Amino acid sequence: MLELRSLKKYFSVGRTLLRAVDNVSLTIGNNEILGVVGESGCGKSTLGRLALRLIEPTEGSVVFKGTDLTRLRRHELLSVRQHIQMVFQNPFASFNPKLRIIASLTEVCRYYGMDITAAHDKIRQLIADIGLSEDMLPRYPRELSGGQLQRLAIARALLSDPELIIADEPVSALDVSVQAQLLNLFALLRVSRRREGRNLSMLFISHDMSVIEYLCDRVAVMYLGKLVEVAPSTVLFRDTAHPYTKALIAAAPRLDKPRSGTTALRGEAMNPAADNATGCVFASRCSRAVIQCRTEVPTLHEFSTGHTVACHAL
Ligand SMILES: Nc1ncnc2c1ncn2[C@@H]1O[C@H](COP(=O)(O)OP(=O)(O)OP(=O)(O)O)[C@@H](O)[C@H]1O
Ligand SMILES: [Mg+2]
Repeated sequence: MLELRSLKKYFSVGRTLLRAVDNVSLTIGNNEILGVVGESGCGKSTLGRLALRLIEPTEGSVVFKGTDLTRLRRHELLSVRQHIQMVFQNPFASFNPKLRIIASLTEVCRYYGMDITAAHDKIRQLIADIGLSEDMLPRYPRELSGGQLQRLAIARALLSDPELIIADEPVSALDVSVQAQLLNLFALLRVSRRREGRNLSMLFISHDMSVIEYLCDRVAVMYLGKLVEVAPSTVLFRDTAHPYTKALIAAAPRLDKPRSGTTALRGEAMNPAADNATGCVFASRCSRAVIQCRTEVPTLHEFSTGHTVACHAL
């Protein structure tokens, strides 16, 4: 469905170069939910924006169903964007506060060329799919809860029947019970689309390991712009390999198990603007660092089938 090839996004900050996304290659299969996880500032949102070409990559390409998005002209890109939609963290910022929900949703349908009857039918069907009642439609965004509005943001993203959704921290601003409902909604949508014979893949960005574990088929762990570990979800949480992933999992609060606390993160993350091309970006915080980690950048290698890791110590 989507292939990110050696993607780089460097920002010039003063005199230094900030490597927000540094040589990331990833694929998302049909109907697959790929999670991208990592601490704040590691480049997750930048990666999401690159995948939709909302920002231009410094290098590398984004291939969606065989089409290289980085080579498309503006008008060609707009027609592809219909198949890729984005959902953001803050639903209040993603709806026009002056428009009733029905007006916002109808506007999107019109943009995609539906007439008013088709638009209203589509909206009604999606409102039912996301488990909301039609009483929400005449309301203004301020008259809805964050959870209700985020459901509507998901419905809006689905209006164009996308095959790929890029969701950037879509549940992070919500309380835990609403988070769980929305994660179930994402999972159910995929099942229902599959039943209709359609694809719905997702790139799901979160800093929350438990959210990722619950929803995602495969997980990519990012640290300061680089991928450090990629594996199917069940494998990643059972046979965690990279010291950073171990630390992230150990640091995640869990209700069902006491925290082990043994592999908690030490020290500060390296400044992403520092010229770190000489070694592993995680070396300064890693308990397993060897001399090679300070001198040579580790690249992803196969650790077991379908499980790759960038670490000299493994
Ligand atoms: N337009 C920009 N100009 C300069 N630096 C930027 C720009 N956008 C992002 N950055 C920097 O790139 C790095 C990655 O930012 P990004 O927003 O992708 O992180 P993130 O993983 O999404 O973090 P969070 O979990 O806090 O949302 C950060 O150091 C950020 O300051
Ligand atoms: Mg972000």
